[in-house]
Amino acid sequence: MERRALADTGLTLSRVGFGCWALGGGPWGPIDVAEATAAVHLALDLGIDWFDTAPLYGHGAADELLVQALGSRRHEVVIATKVGVRFDAATDHAESLLTPEHLRADCEASLARLGVERIDLLQVHWPCEHGTPLEDTVGALARLRDEGKIRAFGLCNYNAPGLTAALEAEAQGVASLQSPLSLIRREAEAALLPLCQGRGLPFLAYETLGRGLLTGKYTAPPRFDEHDLRARDPRFHGLAFVHHAARGVTLRAIGKKIGASAAAVATGWVLARPGVTHAIVGARSPAQVREAAVAPRLAAEARLWSVVDQALAQAPLRR
Ligand SMILES: NC(=O)c1ccc[n+]([C@@H]2O[C@H](COP(=O)([O-])OP(=O)(O)OC[C@H]3O[C@@H](n4cnc5c(N)ncnc54)[C@H](OP(=O)(O)O)[C@@H]3O)[C@@H](O)[C@H]2O)c1
Repeated sequence: MERRALADTGLTLSRVGFGCWALGGGPWGPIDVAEATAAVHLALDLGIDWFDTAPLYGHGAADELLVQALGSRRHEVVIATKVGVRFDAATDHAESLLTPEHLRADCEASLARLGVERIDLLQVHWPCEHGTPLEDTVGALARLRDEGKIRAFGLCNYNAPGLTAALEAEAQGVASLQSPLSLIRREAEAALLPLCQGRGLPFLAYETLGRGLLTGKYTAPPRFDEHDLRARDPRFHGLAFVHHAARGVTLRAIGKKIGASAAAVATGWVLARPGVTHAIVGARSPAQVREAAVAPRLAAEARLWSVVDQALAQAPLRR
């Protein structure tokens, strides 16, 4: 498993990280604990040595499953988690709250739930929705780092102006940016990726599989439970579904020729983008982990990407 440094944090992480959102069940449907545990164990065996979680994922359930699955090995891996979301169970509403007090309380709760003395990477989950000055937020994160409660902090879902402002507020502090990037979600290529590359800031891509659409497994519109987030995701409906699922089927056909799955090709494509240092793949079964682990090897195959680009340029928008 190829590894890349996380800026100057002293951390070096496998290029593929294990995304833990689905481990929390909830909007991803019920989780099979035995299978998810086996997925975590296989990830370790294949050299995937970091896990991306969040308090919001199952409201702590993903953390709990992850910690149980890792057992004493949790001290051998990097756990990246998030901070700064306030959830109201009564209204089922989540919003970004980035006051220093909330960040500290959130961080303490994660330390307790994860059973660690220090969080390796603490990421702001979303940009501020409540007018907290950016300087206060990054200042609070820098204090948590200086106190030894976290090793490093990063940001998620910031756009280029937001990231630029954060880098100006705490130039030495921000260790990474986490942002969506896939063959069906390419906005980051315009400004964010070049910005990160120019600043030497690690770019942790998420949703590389388009929530499963790029795995080639959907040949007809799927039916999800009404609480499943994919039931409300417009990409799983109508013409958008046809277009995205067709991309997955195309990737599957290309992958078949080289003995790789569509999922491996989709994540390999992301890892091959200039500036992308790591990709987080959401997984909950050993088979999904096995496919994700192939992606870094594919990323180095330049000829593969010209084939993929050509094939997708011709992929018809079926009606
Ligand atoms: N910072 C943020 O705001 C943010 C937002 C979203 C995600 N993330 C992180 O990124 C991770 C990944 O994102 P994501 O889970 O939304 O999307 P994703 O990685 O694009 O899709 C993951 C889903 O695709 C399916 N899948 C995975 N591997 C597969 C394979 N080989 N073959 C077929 N299906 C496969 C699984 O669902 P099924 O088995 O149900 O089909 C899995 O839950 C999350 O777990 C989380 O850690 C962060």
